[in-house]
Amino acid sequence: MARSWGFWTRYKLELLQRYLDSFTTTTKNRSPTKRVYLDLFGGEPDNVDRDTQDPIDGSARIALNTKDPPFSHLRFFELEPNATKLRQALSAEFPDRDWVVYAGDCNDTIHQALADLRAGDAGWAPTFAFIDPNGPHYSWRTLEALAAHKGSRAKTKVELWLLFPDPLFARMLPRTGDVRPADNAAITAMYGDPQWHAIWRAKLDDEIAPADAREEYVNLMRWRLEGALGYRWTHQLEIRNTGGVPIYHLIFATDSEPGHNIMTHLYDQAAAEFPAMAQAARSLRVRRRREAHGQYDLFSTLDPEDPDVLGISVPTPSTATRQRLYVHEPPDEPRVHDTQTCPYCE
Ligand SMILES: C[S@@+](CC[C@H](N)C(=O)[O-])C[C@H]1O[C@@H](n2cnc3c(N)ncnc32)[C@H](O)[C@@H]1O
Repeated sequence: MARSWGFWTRYKLELLQRYLDSFTTTTKNRSPTKRVYLDLFGGEPDNVDRDTQDPIDGSARIALNTKDPPFSHLRFFELEPNATKLRQALSAEFPDRDWVVYAGDCNDTIHQALADLRAGDAGWAPTFAFIDPNGPHYSWRTLEALAAHKGSRAKTKVELWLLFPDPLFARMLPRTGDVRPADNAAITAMYGDPQWHAIWRAKLDDEIAPADAREEYVNLMRWRLEGALGYRWTHQLEIRNTGGVPIYHLIFATDSEPGHNIMTHLYDQAAAEFPAMAQAARSLRVRRRREAHGQYDLFSTLDPEDPDVLGISVPTPSTATRQRLYVHEPPDEPRVHDTQTCPYCE
């Protein structure tokens, strides 16, 4: 059965497609023949839009269909049985391309995949990594390996675009009592550091509101990507569901000036387009619900059969006629964590 996604996932994939188009174009002169795409949570081959039931191309197909120029090497990572399903689908559709599906936990298989790329003389090539989990499933060691992959003499590291599931922390971290050891370990493994406990503690002590805690969790990740891994710029974009509830942030890390400028532009477009898409998705849902009860609205302007009804062609002010909605700001220095008094730090 196809996996069904909300409109926000379709929009995330639309942003991915726009960025990949720019990434291969802007790196073409620097590297005419080689550019690498890594997809650490490669997904399943069949996906549909939850509202329209239209098929959606997942990240693997989007990357393989990027043209002018295409990616020369694509490496996907998935757990079984999805890895086999993905491999079978891509074998039929893209038999002549250089792609590999690594089956298993990407936090383990990434090291061999990166070593293989270096051994195959693609270790220096411009490389983009999409890290799109459903939860806190990537580890800091994985991010470190990606950042170190091209070596200390490379001008730019592997670009990272990662889904950061900050709202999930509220569910994992109790308001009273102890955090489950597995959840504590998963969050610490993701940050590579226990400093996030300071934010949790501040929230437990009512020093900060839940929304501020979420902002601080995102800020801390960006701070570490810049400070500990040496990325020159990081960006954040909050994604909300149809009901306006925050579901994750998309964090981008780069030390390429064109990459920084392009993502600034795309996040600005997203800030303008996303509310209109959310509204269209809500209206379509209301209309479908009414129609299911036999109530038809003659004056509705939304035609659910129109393929663009949830598409990015929902009218939004053009960048030329509106103020910028997204401006890049560096992360703030995070609050200090006292490991001496922390019951969770050894
Ligand atoms: C949000 S989906 C990815 C969607 C995909 N990027 C797309 O656009 O179609 C997350 C995927 O990660 C896979 N996954 C979860 N943990 C993983 C791990 N440790 N290593 C590799 N894949 C994992 C799941 O099986 C799931 O298909």
